[in-house]
Amino acid sequence: MNYQWYPGHMTKAKRMMQENISLIDLVIELVDARIPLSSRNPDIDELGKNKSRLILLNKSDLADPGANKLWMAYFRERGFHVLEVNAKTGQGLRQIQPKVQEACREKIERDRKRGIKNRPVRAIVVGIPNVGKSTFINSFAGKACTKTGNKPGVTKGKQWIRLNKDLELLDTPGILWPKFENEDVGKRLAMIGSMNDEILQMTELAAELLAYLLAHYRQALLARYQVEEDAEEITPLQMLSLICENRKCYKKGQEPDFEKAAALLMDDFRSGRIGRITLETCEEP
Ligand code: G4P
Repeated sequence: MNYQWYPGHMTKAKRMMQENISLIDLVIELVDARIPLSSRNPDIDELGKNKSRLILLNKSDLADPGANKLWMAYFRERGFHVLEVNAKTGQGLRQIQPKVQEACREKIERDRKRGIKNRPVRAIVVGIPNVGKSTFINSFAGKACTKTGNKPGVTKGKQWIRLNKDLELLDTPGILWPKFENEDVGKRLAMIGSMNDEILQMTELAAELLAYLLAHYRQALLARYQVEEDAEEITPLQMLSLICENRKCYKKGQEPDFEKAAALLMDDFRSGRIGRITLETCEEP
């Protein structure tokens, strides 16, 4: 299957990021906890190389709790500050402030030595489309905070959201483009719904997802579609037929409607109804 390349605008987005990153102390990078590597663009390592970094494993409510712990350790071992969050409900967001202080300790210390007092840490939120940047900014900043408007020395039009005396957030997130390093990355992005479904062959994608789920989350999958514990091997296509049966997906004349079952499966998976599932492990990124 051909996975879509994000068209155009990449250079423009990158230029804007470069410009914005020069204004800030801290990069808050959102990744999708279900695919923490495939939802990253490693260009951010180069773009934000002299900045502090806080990685947020967002949508952690949809991901496998055990895998979340392993991914936290993975990023920590690589020198990043990292937290598990749910931008939608706000879970985990309270831990951010202390983490920011920890991540920016050197900068705060440097300011103090130079006699600069009360200069808040300035942060930008970045991530690939659909990772939850806007949701995060809204929940984190909430309604209480004020926009500080233009400041001297800041590119005209940029808005800073003042969260408190220690932290300001650029109100426009930076968009990173997913990096389609190999077909697996494209596939995983498609599975979580980060691509335009219209261009995808849903039954093929569903079969790929089913192969993964049968191998890694078999019990949860069988339970969801009320399939009796299997005595023999079930292939992905057989499983799709079983979903057709369970959900009464038939065309006229009792012919199974695989497309309908595939769409239903993808929807169930994306909204967490099959369970908390992570699609990539630290060992085989
Ligand atoms: P973006 O700015 O990075 O493009 O992403 P955005 O905030 O628009 O979020 C994309 C979708 O992800 C939204 O769903 C949002 O509600 C959902 N989302 C964001 N963070 C989380 C999270 O931590 N957990 C879960 N479960 N979902 C999250 P949507 O379908 O577009 O809208 P809605 O149905 O939620 O209204």
